[in-house]
Amino acid sequence: MKFELQHADPASDARTGLITTAHGQIRTPIFMPVGTCGSVKGVHIKELEEQVKAQIILGNTYHLYLRPGLDVLRQAGGLHRFNGWQHPILTDSGGFQVFSLTGIRKLKEEGCEFRSHIDGSKHIFTPENVMDTERTIGADIIMAFDECPPGNSDYGYARRSLGLTQRWLDRCIKRFNETEPLYGYEQTLFPIVQGCTFKDLRREAAMYVADKGADGNAIGGLAVGEPTEVMYEMIETVNEILPKDRPRYLMGVGTPQNILEAIERGVDMFDCVMPTRNGRNAMLFTYDGTMNMRNKKWENDFSPIDPNGCETDRIYTKAYLHHLFKAQELLAMQIASIHNLSFYLRLVTDARTHIEQGDFTAWKRSITDNLGRRI
Ligand code: GUN
Repeated sequence: MKFELQHADPASDARTGLITTAHGQIRTPIFMPVGTCGSVKGVHIKELEEQVKAQIILGNTYHLYLRPGLDVLRQAGGLHRFNGWQHPILTDSGGFQVFSLTGIRKLKEEGCEFRSHIDGSKHIFTPENVMDTERTIGADIIMAFDECPPGNSDYGYARRSLGLTQRWLDRCIKRFNETEPLYGYEQTLFPIVQGCTFKDLRREAAMYVADKGADGNAIGGLAVGEPTEVMYEMIETVNEILPKDRPRYLMGVGTPQNILEAIERGVDMFDCVMPTRNGRNAMLFTYDGTMNMRNKKWENDFSPIDPNGCETDRIYTKAYLHHLFKAQELLAMQIASIHNLSFYLRLVTDARTHIEQGDFTAWKRSITDNLGRRI
């Protein structure tokens, strides 16, 4: 994987860049639609390419390991062949998912024992077998196995958890270096910075990660209940230390406003379930604010969903989408997911354009208030 920095904003830490992977290029800042089980829920690959204009999508190790399982993925020749997406893919390590299975998991130095949410069967994830699994899935960018501690962890827990994440990172790197890609193209391992909301731990974590010299680095453990200002402060603390010439990926974040704030602080890559999950729940993101499509106010509004949006936004009207949600038609969720994802991709593409033009902060200021409105 290669990363070229292209433009730096004179007034902030925002920047643009180009990532080159074996499955194509990614222009940053970028938003990556989440395809947990190997599919972006409700969105066909052609729509992802042509309307959403996605450049990279996410898969999740925990979910893909349980279903369809490693045998099927190996037989398919990896996830790209299995799901038909021929552009870049990133897999999260499953750390985050396993740790959200409170009550059905046991954390040890060796790894994390858990029970499947599907059939209750017992499994263990270790740094070594997660690397092997991510080799089998075959994503272009693979994430280290980390512990994402609860948002309200105290200092002692956060400290011990960070130690474990660091030892697991060393074991991930060792296993990754000892193994080869299975399908003949390069894979890249990104370490993850943890440390909860403690500045000294975040600094230590960032130094530890920076020292590994990876081709890209991630910031995890944020947007887990802390105030947004604290999240921004943690991003600043970490980005002062992470190398400027490698992409920085903020995991699981966030709202359009969160994404712009993080871009301003030097983040390049994002993923979040919000556009698809909220979309399935009738909430649309737009530059004018968020809209609840179940609201009666849309019943007679025959204007396009978004006249400046993607093809789907221009074909369908607000009144029609309102009707589809009221009638519980599947198409409602599909249209809303396509709209929200294409909006998120438009947002990061516009951010990129304004960084190139040198007026990113003024642009951000001019749109921020509207983004947070409910219309
Ligand atoms: N997704 C969102 N946050 C995290 C995190 O801290 N770790 C991992 N592995 N995935 C995440």
